[in-house]
Amino acid sequence: MSSTGCTILGSAVLTLFLAGYLAQRYLPPPKPKIVGIDLGTTFSCIGAYQAGTGEVNILEDKLGRKCIPSIVAFNGKDILVGHAAAEQAEHNPQNTVYDAKRFIGKGFTDEELQKEVGRYPFQMVISEDGMIRYQVHHADENGNKEMTPEVIGSHILRQLKETAEHRLDAKVHRTVISVPAEFDEQQRNYTRKAAELAGFDVLRIITEPTAAALAYGLHKKSGIRNVLVVDLGGGTLDVSLLNIQGGMFLTQAIAGNNHLGGQDFNQRLMSHVLQQIADHFHRQLTDPEDMQALRLAVEDTKQNLTYHDTATLSLHIHSFHGKVSLSTEPIHYELNIDRRTFENINSDLFDKVLEPIDRVLEATELPREDVDEIVLVGGSTRIPKVRRLIREYFGKIPNTSIEPELAVVMGSSLQAGVIGGMWPLTVSAIEQRSPVLKKIHVQ
Ligand SMILES: *[C@@H]1O[C@H](CO)[C@@H](O)[C@H](O)[C@H]1NC(C)=O
Ligand SMILES: *[C@@H]1O[C@H](CO)[C@@H](O)[C@H](O)[C@H]1NC(C)=O
Ligand SMILES: *[C@@H]1O[C@H](CO)[C@@H](O)[C@H](O)[C@H]1NC(C)=O
Repeated sequence: MSSTGCTILGSAVLTLFLAGYLAQRYLPPPKPKIVGIDLGTTFSCIGAYQAGTGEVNILEDKLGRKCIPSIVAFNGKDILVGHAAAEQAEHNPQNTVYDAKRFIGKGFTDEELQKEVGRYPFQMVISEDGMIRYQVHHADENGNKEMTPEVIGSHILRQLKETAEHRLDAKVHRTVISVPAEFDEQQRNYTRKAAELAGFDVLRIITEPTAAALAYGLHKKSGIRNVLVVDLGGGTLDVSLLNIQGGMFLTQAIAGNNHLGGQDFNQRLMSHVLQQIADHFHRQLTDPEDMQALRLAVEDTKQNLTYHDTATLSLHIHSFHGKVSLSTEPIHYELNIDRRTFENINSDLFDKVLEPIDRVLEATELPREDVDEIVLVGGSTRIPKVRRLIREYFGKIPNTSIEPELAVVMGSSLQAGVIGGMWPLTVSAIEQRSPVLKKIHVQ
C-alpha cells in the first residue's frame, strides 16, 4: 500500500472576528437563505441554520439519507449521482467517477498522473492546461466526452441543491462551502466554479478544520487556545492545529496522509476474508457479483465492530474462480471476526494516524499537553482503536459529541447562518495565506 503524505507548514491564516449583535428577537424566524455544504472526497452533505431553534438541520434526501456518496456515473443515457451512481458502480466501472475532489483545480505532470491512474478503473488524461479530464462514454450537449473534476463536482452539488430545495420548500442559490485547509487558491477557485456550474453563488469558502471547530463552538469557549482537528475519512487523513486568539481562528500547521482512511481498513479486512475463504474452500473468490457483495459485507462488519466485540460476516457465494457457477444453490458462508483481529490486521495503518499529529506539534513546537481540545472529524474516527490511540497520545478525551461525518457541514451551515445575519453573533472570517507555504512530503 503506497502512502504519500504531505505536510504543509505555515500560516494559512483564518481570522474570525466576533462582535456583538442585537438579536432580531421580535421578528419571525426567517427561512434559511444560505446553505452550508461539505463537498467531500467520499461523501457530501448540505445543511441549513435554523434561526428559530438556533440549530443546524442536515437536509436529508427523500429516503432520509443525510449524505450522498461523491460519485457520478454515466450510463450512455443518464447521469447518475450519489447513491444511484454507487449502486451501479460494479457494472459500469469505466464510467463511474469518484474521488474527483483529489483532482479538482490541481495541475498534474504525466509522471504524477501515472501514479494515480492505477488506482482507478476509469480513464484519466491530462489536457493542455495540465488539468485532469475523465474520458467517459457520455457526450455532453456539445458532444464533449471529457469531463473535468469540477463538472463532476457540479453534478454532486446540483443533487444537494435539489435536496435542499425540496426540504426547505424554497429556491436555494447562496452557499458557504468548505475545502481542505491545504487547498491553494486555484483549487478553491475550481471548487467555486463547480458550485457556480450547479447554480450556486458562493458567499464564502471556509476551511474544513475551522468549520469543525466552529461546529463545536470552540471560538466561544473561554480558556481555549490550541485546537487540534483530526479528520480521518474514507481515503484521507488531515490534521490541523488551530490557534484561537481573541476570537480569531489561526491555522498554524497542517499535515496529512492523502492515502489513508476507511477504504484502506476495508481493503485489509477484505484480504483477510478472501484468505479465509481460500483456506476453507481451496478456491479463489473472483466472481464480480460475489466480490461486490463481499465489499458491502466488509463495510457492514467494520461498522459493527465499532459497537461490538465481534461481528459475523455472512456471504452467499455464487461461483468460484474457474467455475461458471455452483450447481444451483449458492453456498452460505459465515465468518466470525472479532475486534482484536480487525485491529491486528490494521495495526500499522492505525499507527500512521499519529504521524501527522507528531509533525504538526513538532512544526509548531507545541507540547502535547498544551493542546486544549481535540476534535475528531470523519467517519473513520469512530473506530475505537483510533480514538484510543489519540486519547492515549494526549492523555485526554477527544471531542466527539457531534457526529464526525457531520461536523464540517454543521460548521459551514453555521457560517452560512452568520452571513445571513441569523446568528446572534456577527462573525466574519478573513483568510490570508502566507506567501511562504512549505510542503514537506513524508513516507
Ligand atoms: C482565482 O480567482 C480569482 C478571482 O476570480 C482571481 O483573481 C485569481 O487570479 C484566481 N487564482 C488562480 C490561482 O486561479
Ligand atoms: C451488523 O449489525 C446489524 C444490526 O444489528 C445486523 O443486522 C448485521 O447482520 C450485522 N452484520 C455483521 C456483519 O455483523
Ligand atoms: C466538547 O466540546 C463541547 C463544546 O465546546 C464541550 O462542552 C465539551 O466539554 C467537550 N467535550 C470534551 C470531551 O472535551
